[in-house]
Amino acid sequence: MDYQLDLNWPEFIERYWQKRPVVLKRGFKNFIDPISPDELAGLAMENEVDSRLVSHNNGKWQVAHGPFESYDHLGESNWSLLVQAVNHWHEPSAALMRPFRALPDWRTDDLMISFAPPGGGVGPHLDQYDVFIVQGTGRRRWRVGEKIPMKQHCPHPDLLQVEPFDAIIDEEMEPGDILYIPPGFPHEGYSLENAINYSVGFRAPSGRELISSFADYALANELGSYRFSDPDVPARDCPSQILPQEIEGIRQTMLDVIQQPEQFDRWFGEFISQTRHELDLAPPEPPYQPDEIYDALQQGDALTRLGGLRVLTIGNAVYINGEQLTSQRPEFLAALAHHQELTLEDFGDALDDPAVLAQLAGLVNSGYWFFGE
Ligand code: SIN
Ligand code: CO
Repeated sequence: MDYQLDLNWPEFIERYWQKRPVVLKRGFKNFIDPISPDELAGLAMENEVDSRLVSHNNGKWQVAHGPFESYDHLGESNWSLLVQAVNHWHEPSAALMRPFRALPDWRTDDLMISFAPPGGGVGPHLDQYDVFIVQGTGRRRWRVGEKIPMKQHCPHPDLLQVEPFDAIIDEEMEPGDILYIPPGFPHEGYSLENAINYSVGFRAPSGRELISSFADYALANELGSYRFSDPDVPARDCPSQILPQEIEGIRQTMLDVIQQPEQFDRWFGEFISQTRHELDLAPPEPPYQPDEIYDALQQGDALTRLGGLRVLTIGNAVYINGEQLTSQRPEFLAALAHHQELTLEDFGDALDDPAVLAQLAGLVNSGYWFFGE
């Protein structure tokens, strides 16, 4: 299924992206759910899939974590089943993320899907990330408040909520409607009838995360062996003092490690191309020989990218699931990075080069691309 999003992107970015929440009425016309509640419930029974059940009763909140063995204990209202990274496990759902490629791939995260009977929701809260919440089947009332400093509390150890807030958006969402919420705006949604919601989530690394990841990279690659030095060590009033220019020298010693453009690009490509959720990796058994791959493509078979696989480019380098791939044929890498589905045409004549074909075979044999849908 090809989802067509009716949105003027330049205008949306100028007015709303990272700035204001907005409801995009009928963003998807004639919306058809890519998944049924039963299928979603089935996914939440699987070990590898990350899921939660959140329920509330008279103001008391409960959270349970999947995998779930049964749903028999659930009543007819006031609960919500939330499943993370469904795009990794369910290809038709992954299609719902594609219209959002108007925004860069590296900023997107995963597709979370929730199902809730009347009254179900996770309560008032805020998120650190941008999100597009697409209304599927059913109706849900969403409220969004102004971004003001808010105290957060935990009505349950696994649930972070905020106090009640005044709404700047209060809308009954219907199938195909989309609610965009930038980071930090409090929001809550309660189902009015059995309802499915799709959350296309984004990611934005924090300084803390980046420094921690870069430190790991520096250790693994033995960067930063240069030490602080002071051939003209300055005199001071008291030996206990560390002088401002020495602090500056220490900062410079650290910055010198970061200011190596090639290493920096490589680190960031490796870091940001890693997914935060498990991939549904199933390497083919037995592995393909390169010529078998060529033959299949020549017969018209297409290679599909594994759901959730992150393929990102910096200059001519491509990063796939945390690893850099280089090639003499940049158009081969560009094709991998651009398309969701690859046919022989997309590769031009790059596959005539045995080294490139072997590289492609390596990717298919890792389970990153597969034949069929
Ligand atoms: C949902 O309940 O479907 C979305 C949760 C959220 O507000 O992030
Ligand atoms: Co939220």
